[in-house]
Amino acid sequence: MSDFEPFYNVNLSYEDNYRQGPFGEFAAALAEQESVTAAPAAPAAPAADFLGHKVNLPFGIPAGPLLNERFTTAAFRMGFDIATYKTVRSRAWGCNPFPNVLAVHPKSADGSLTPGSAELDEGVLADTNYKLPISISNSFGVPSRDPDEWQPDMKRAIVAAGDGQVLLPSFQGSRVEGMSGDDYIADHVTTARLVCETGADLMEMNTSCPNEGHNRLLCHDPALVGRITEAVKNEIGNRPLIVKLAYIPPVEVEGGWSADRRIIDDAALELMIRETAARGSVQAFSTINTISARLVDAAGEQALPGKGRDRSGVCGSAIRGAGLDMVARLAAIRDRLGLDFAIIGVGGVVAPADYQAYRAAGVDAVMSATGAMWDASLAREIKASITAE
Ligand SMILES: Cc1cc2nc3c(=O)[nH]c(=O)nc-3n(C[C@H](O)[C@H](O)[C@H](O)COP(=O)(O)O)c2cc1C
Repeated sequence: MSDFEPFYNVNLSYEDNYRQGPFGEFAAALAEQESVTAAPAAPAAPAADFLGHKVNLPFGIPAGPLLNERFTTAAFRMGFDIATYKTVRSRAWGCNPFPNVLAVHPKSADGSLTPGSAELDEGVLADTNYKLPISISNSFGVPSRDPDEWQPDMKRAIVAAGDGQVLLPSFQGSRVEGMSGDDYIADHVTTARLVCETGADLMEMNTSCPNEGHNRLLCHDPALVGRITEAVKNEIGNRPLIVKLAYIPPVEVEGGWSADRRIIDDAALELMIRETAARGSVQAFSTINTISARLVDAAGEQALPGKGRDRSGVCGSAIRGAGLDMVARLAAIRDRLGLDFAIIGVGGVVAPADYQAYRAAGVDAVMSATGAMWDASLAREIKASITAE
């Protein structure tokens, strides 16, 4: 793996990536495009609908690894037809100290991490030995540039989309000392307005990172997400609003196993839907984000340096099972309630078969962050696998 260069260079700081990236094949695609003015060829497959946008393939890169317009434009050139612009805020926000990414090695034979398993609290080995199928830690703290910097950059990113492609901005509110609940809601509305000013006609609101302080996620409070999305929707009007959710665990009904499936109580996820999509304020859910785990080095000590970093989010191949479980449950509730919100499946997509597994689980679009970082040709491979069918 040592000679392979992900488009986000995990050996450099976030700041260096922002200024110098993207790297590897993404950098080459960007350089080529600067000398060629023709739009990239659209694939033969019929265009799909993605929240009112025609896309060549409903596949892309979710919020995070595409730091600015150079990254999103390179993603378009590499055939990722939905490029999400990294989560922005109403103000500049610092990044957690370097390193932010480590390779993660779960114990199970297939390298998966199951939500709720003891291993997540006991400790999972994390080091710099990056191996396929790739799983990594992701400990950034959702940094943001100042709006004066990201607004003009996002504007350029939106117009750089080719035919059958769409730029998706991601944003979140910022909870700061002394803020009231109403101030916090207002900060979301302000940030959504700043996104609208760039020309965006859809957007994703992130509720799946520790927005609420250490290890506290906004999506664990459906009533508050309901109040915020209602206020944001009033601001953005007809533009579709996507909510990014973390994995929300079901509760197993005691003794509730039938011959072929477990019986679960999905009240928490259903409440989220009832507070948002069922009221018309949310048009889609994107899920999952990372699964939180205690990360340890070979000596069993905390792997990421610094206070409050004993746990980190894990993403990549290890969390595919959790992602598929979450989207299947969302789709089941959607059917049961007769709603028509869209579902964007995220988590552990590293190969064309993973794209197909998410589609079979009922999602409208699929995205890959870690898998795309370690395989810049992933979108092209998925398209080739579909054409070959
Ligand atoms: C480098 C990196 C940065 C990320 N930053 C964000 C972010 O700013 N906002 C967000 O909603 N998710 C962020 N994520 C999470 C991804 O969008 C995604 O939910 C998660 O990585 C699971 O997908 P994967 O298994 O394909 O990586 C980030 C992920 C990575 C790898």
